[in-house]
Amino acid sequence: MGLGPYVAKFLAQEGVNIALTARSEDALKDIARDLTELNITARAYPADITEPDARVELVAQVTKEFGHIDILVNNAGMEWVSRYTDLSSEFIQTMIQTNQVAPMVLTRLVLPEMIARGSGHVVTMASLGGIKGSPYSATYAATKAGLITWTGGIREELRNTGVSASVICPGFVAQAGMFAAYNKRAPKITGETTPEKVADAVIRAIKKDIGRIIVNPGLIWPMIWLDALNPAIMYWVLRKFGVYEFYKQQAADNMK
Ligand SMILES: NC(=O)c1ccc[n+]([C@@H]2O[C@H](COP(=O)([O-])OP(=O)(O)OC[C@H]3O[C@@H](n4cnc5c(N)ncnc54)[C@H](OP(=O)(O)O)[C@@H]3O)[C@@H](O)[C@H]2O)c1
Repeated sequence: MGLGPYVAKFLAQEGVNIALTARSEDALKDIARDLTELNITARAYPADITEPDARVELVAQVTKEFGHIDILVNNAGMEWVSRYTDLSSEFIQTMIQTNQVAPMVLTRLVLPEMIARGSGHVVTMASLGGIKGSPYSATYAATKAGLITWTGGIREELRNTGVSASVICPGFVAQAGMFAAYNKRAPKITGETTPEKVADAVIRAIKKDIGRIIVNPGLIWPMIWLDALNPAIMYWVLRKFGVYEFYKQQAADNMK
């Protein structure tokens, strides 16, 4: 199970009705059934968000059945840790479509109605990896960096419209999701966070209208400041403290 069901549950606990999407229809229906026990409406909309027609159909169908969309959570994403030269050009494009183009286009599809109503919030799941690129995960990092920059831009553009945008940057999340699937401990310098903290960040971003939330324990802010002062030193620190060795090892494991 990934982070999506946690985010959906935290939203449902706030009384939000939920339209879930992913490609796995059975899993979506199971999650929707569990969410309805929280006395909200939850429905499954299986779709592949890399398909342009599917995005249009998804937004149209949810809008028709729910009346309107108050909150869009761009959570779906993919990662693959490997040497860059081991990725096919098709795979690189699929990752960019999934992680970057889909959230941007889905947002483009929901925004006009939100702006006309003067209310709405778009929350996009980026990553700590989008703040500082890592070897063996450079494409993923690039898509997430793009989402951070893009959210900052549209957030300013939407100022005074009643609609807003936030970006969440989790570090390594234990217990659920793509990192947990590695069955590895994160490097000590970054540590690990939990799916509940990520879901809670989504709620805080909406309720308090926070532009960017980093969800990671420990020393992360001094590292971000150091990176702003001198990016080369930060690459050295991350190399020295084993973060790049971690990715290299995962890339080797993925080749097995
Ligand atoms: N877990 C972490 O440590 C971590 C850290 C930082 C950021 N994040 C970000 O958090 C978000 C959730 O990640 P996760 O850890 O929950 O990953 P995950 O367990 O792999 O879940 C990814 C979700 O995205 C859906 N998805 C992927 N491709 C899709 C497509 N083409 N169309 C529709 N749905 C698609 C998947 O469902 P189907 O396969 O059924 O389509 C799945 O529900 C991602 O954006 C990720 O980059 C995660």
